[in-house]
Amino acid sequence: MAPTLPKATTVLSWFFYLIPVYLFLLAPLSQFLFPEWGNPRNELGGKGGYDYNHGYNYEDGFDNDDDNDEAVYETPLHLTDDRFISPEDDVPFTCPEQEGRYKVHIFSRVPLVIYIEGFLGEEEADHLVRVSEGKYAPSIIYDGISERVDPSVRRSDRALLDRDDAVRCLEERARSFQGWRRGLYIERMWAQRYNVSGHYQNHYDWTGNLHAGGDRVSTFMVYLQADCTGGGTNFPRMKMPREKKWCRFLECDEDKKGQDQATKQLEGVTFKPIKGNAIFWENLRADGTGYPETWHAALPVTSGSKVGLNIWSWYQPPRKTKGKDRG
Ligand SMILES: *[C@@H]1O[C@H](CO)[C@@H](O)[C@H](O)[C@H]1NC(C)=O
Repeated sequence: MAPTLPKATTVLSWFFYLIPVYLFLLAPLSQFLFPEWGNPRNELGGKGGYDYNHGYNYEDGFDNDDDNDEAVYETPLHLTDDRFISPEDDVPFTCPEQEGRYKVHIFSRVPLVIYIEGFLGEEEADHLVRVSEGKYAPSIIYDGISERVDPSVRRSDRALLDRDDAVRCLEERARSFQGWRRGLYIERMWAQRYNVSGHYQNHYDWTGNLHAGGDRVSTFMVYLQADCTGGGTNFPRMKMPREKKWCRFLECDEDKKGQDQATKQLEGVTFKPIKGNAIFWENLRADGTGYPETWHAALPVTSGSKVGLNIWSWYQPPRKTKGKDRG
């Protein structure tokens, strides 16, 4: 007698049982034994972990550097120059008691934009305005090659802040906010003062040169003084949230009533200048390219004056030591 063949339904049910076996046993096992399989080399020739936003990652892990003991953070010249960067040193400083008592609201996840209420206390903000006085000079613009003053693009005055206790506390606050990320350097802080008609046309804070000497990975736009009308921070490519609670911080339709036509027709999102509050955003994707959504402008001040403070964080990707260089 010929051997009986199993019924079609039985064969089907075997397959059914094989699916979990593959999913929970074989797939993880093959990932473990041959990690290269599901993880092809990225465009840059690296083989970093899978990045869920982009499908590939920068070679040495842009975000998750903790498990990378071979990472070497080299500092190119301008990132060690203390006229430009605030290096972490052993100078002691004390911070005000309300340190870290700010409230955060996620505005956007990609790119990451976080609104921070009370990032600076009233007195801290007043102090920074006070110490900036007498130090102002016209703000410059940088086109990637040279620096110049051009009031049609940017009309404001800026003052380099000395690294007193208040400034050092703020540097540490900015580092702590960003999880003490390695390879991150805080740029020396400048106060920016805008008189009537002071403004800064749409621009990016990043240059796209991450791999050639670092780039501004993030921005805190802090308002130190906002005795003004106008002077909001406009992001033409960001979307208005639906929730009306955001109208405390954003220009909503009701705010636009008495305003001129140009302001009414602005696209995107405009943050109101509010003393002590800050907008934090990330400029760069995990692969080091810049987010187009971070295109922003300082709108003209129409009366009074505004003082803002930029806290820019630079990021320099680590370089791996080659076998022969290892100690
Ligand atoms: C802003 O006002 C101050 C004080 O009046 C003045 O010295 C400065 O030049 C003005 N800045 C600009 C950019 O107009």
